[in-house]
Amino acid sequence: MEGSNCLNVKWVRGKDVGSGEFSTAYEIANDGDHIMKVITFDDDLMPYSKFDDMIRIQNLVASIDLTVPVVDQWVCNNNQTGVIVMKKLTAQLHGVYKNNKLFPKLKDKMNMIAGIREIYTRLFSHDISHGDVGLRNIMIDKKKYGVSPVKIVVSSRDYPLYLYLIDFQFSLTSDKYIIDDKMAVDELTKWMERYYDL
Ligand SMILES: Nc1ncnc2c1ncn2[C@@H]1O[C@H](COP(=O)(O)OP(=O)(O)OP(=O)(O)O)[C@@H](O)[C@H]1O
Ligand SMILES: [Mg+2]
Repeated sequence: MEGSNCLNVKWVRGKDVGSGEFSTAYEIANDGDHIMKVITFDDDLMPYSKFDDMIRIQNLVASIDLTVPVVDQWVCNNNQTGVIVMKKLTAQLHGVYKNNKLFPKLKDKMNMIAGIREIYTRLFSHDISHGDVGLRNIMIDKKKYGVSPVKIVVSSRDYPLYLYLIDFQFSLTSDKYIIDDKMAVDELTKWMERYYDL
């Protein structure tokens, strides 16, 4: 896709692990612990000018233990492509919320919903809006990053799991848009409660 002019000798691109509208995430062939997110800029929807802001907000959100920080970044292809390297998180909540082995009891499902609300509440308390609330942008991992990441207790495991946000391309450090995010969080959690028959 990007050609040899986007190569980085330190981080060698491995296989595709997921993609969205403007980006694809890849494993790193020589480092199993990280992923690289490759963003293709779009003048109207995902301009190059937003790249630095995205990184700034991800690092800000990492400082309140709600995501993993950016460990490396670069732009290439005449500023048409941006690359971000970060710790590899295990799974999107979107892919696992239906998993009855992971969340066997009603209590587990309730804990997950409470965890989802807790991440956004903490985010909003720092005047940050995410801009794309949803299960696709929440990852679950058994690793603890930071001092007090949002923890969920599940009866299926004897250790806690942690929730982390990803995808800060629509995020803003202005309280103006928090109201929209709050509505989205309410809708999401209501929908989950109906889904689980809580
Ligand atoms: N830290 C991470 N660890 C593991 N996988 C990740 C990580 N960050 C992103 N991904 C994967 O890459 C995909 C795309 O990332 P992201 O959501 O940041 O970009 P996007 O282009 O906005 O996606 P979408 O349009 O689906 O919201 C995610 O759906 C996820 O599968
Ligand atoms: Mg996303």
